[in-house]
Amino acid sequence: MKNSRRDFIKAGAIGAALAATGFSATGYAVDNEPVSKKGLKLLILGGTGFIGPHMVREALRRGHSVTLFNRGRSNASLFPDLETIRGDRDGGLSGLQGRKWDAVIDNSGYVPRHVADSAHLLAPNVGRYVFVSSVSVYADFDIVNNEDSRLATIADETVEEVTGETYGPLKALCEQAAASEISNDKLTVLRPTYICGPGDHTDRFVYWPLRARRAGRMLWPGTPQDIIQVIDVRDLAHFTIDSIERQVQGVYNLVNPRGASTMGTLLRDCQAITARGGEAIWIDEAFLASQGVHGGVDLPIWFNSNPAIGFTADRALRAGLHNRPVRETARDLLAWWDSLPRQRTAKPRAGLSPMKEAEVIAAWRKRR
Ligand SMILES: NC(=O)c1ccc[n+]([C@@H]2O[C@H](COP(=O)([O-])OP(=O)(O)OC[C@H]3O[C@@H](n4cnc5c(N)ncnc54)[C@H](OP(=O)(O)O)[C@@H]3O)[C@@H](O)[C@H]2O)c1
Repeated sequence: MKNSRRDFIKAGAIGAALAATGFSATGYAVDNEPVSKKGLKLLILGGTGFIGPHMVREALRRGHSVTLFNRGRSNASLFPDLETIRGDRDGGLSGLQGRKWDAVIDNSGYVPRHVADSAHLLAPNVGRYVFVSSVSVYADFDIVNNEDSRLATIADETVEEVTGETYGPLKALCEQAAASEISNDKLTVLRPTYICGPGDHTDRFVYWPLRARRAGRMLWPGTPQDIIQVIDVRDLAHFTIDSIERQVQGVYNLVNPRGASTMGTLLRDCQAITARGGEAIWIDEAFLASQGVHGGVDLPIWFNSNPAIGFTADRALRAGLHNRPVRETARDLLAWWDSLPRQRTAKPRAGLSPMKEAEVIAAWRKRR
């Protein structure tokens, strides 16, 4: 069964563009000599959502200083001791004028015009521009994508509304916008897959440990061999700060290696951390589809049983990416989930409802 862009983006993760700007997606380089181990001045565009706070903490842990730039709408009181410049990426960048930083991390670029504006303004004043993109930039999710794979395009490049359909092509155009303002040697483009771990407000990954904890008869999609790829938010943060310290330039898929995790290992991990058993009922994707249940949307993280899909991790691994075991991500995510107020966790934002799951299992057993 084919992966549609909508499915992939809904799941959240939800070449030509870069080539057009002269920015080589194939070119990447790692300078193993740290610019400076300590005391870098970093600017984060965003910083108070999910991935931002992990990057802030990793930077501070390493002795760097951090300035945040945001509108003050999300978790505004999270870092009271940090310098925060209030502004809006949509035409409100004046607070950044005349300031210099060793590097900027752009976590909040979804609209090409916004990225072009910030990259243009900051180009003379930053040593490195790290753009957080996404694997959603790729054109085809039914192949194994490396960093040189074809990128998604959009018919009307002036569109600024971010939807399931436009998110990936717009991120590709954002990469292009950054590349047209920042020289190759100063630009780092990170393409994470599903970012998971403490603070993940999408409730996608946590569906599986929660499901394992309820035990009983559990619907598990596809087969135990089906590949899944995620990245722990703390490993992303680590690689991001590394890329600044070590002047890592170029484009990087940030994923765990294909084959390192499957739905079968995820089940074992979830059962181990919850110390629960239960009966896993593996239901094939065609039957799930016949019941209106789709990978990525109703069953997060998993897509289908095609063994030839995903994203290569080789380049990032060579540049120093370290992926912690998925079991650790699941354990820490569940602990974070359990610390949330009851009104937040009462209705998870992703995954099958227990009622729908029971219906599908019953239909599957009847069919056999
Ligand atoms: N979650 C995933 O699985 C996943 C996967 C792949 C890639 N990504 C990428 O990861 C990034 C998102 O991570 P995150 O939400 O955790 O980022 P974040 O940087 O932690 O949070 C978003 C930040 O951007 C600020 N912001 C939003 N709109 C703004 C605007 N118009 N002007 C100024 N500041 C603005 C928000 O603050 P205010 O609201 O106060 O302005 C907030 O601080 C995105 O680039 C996304 O494409 C995510």
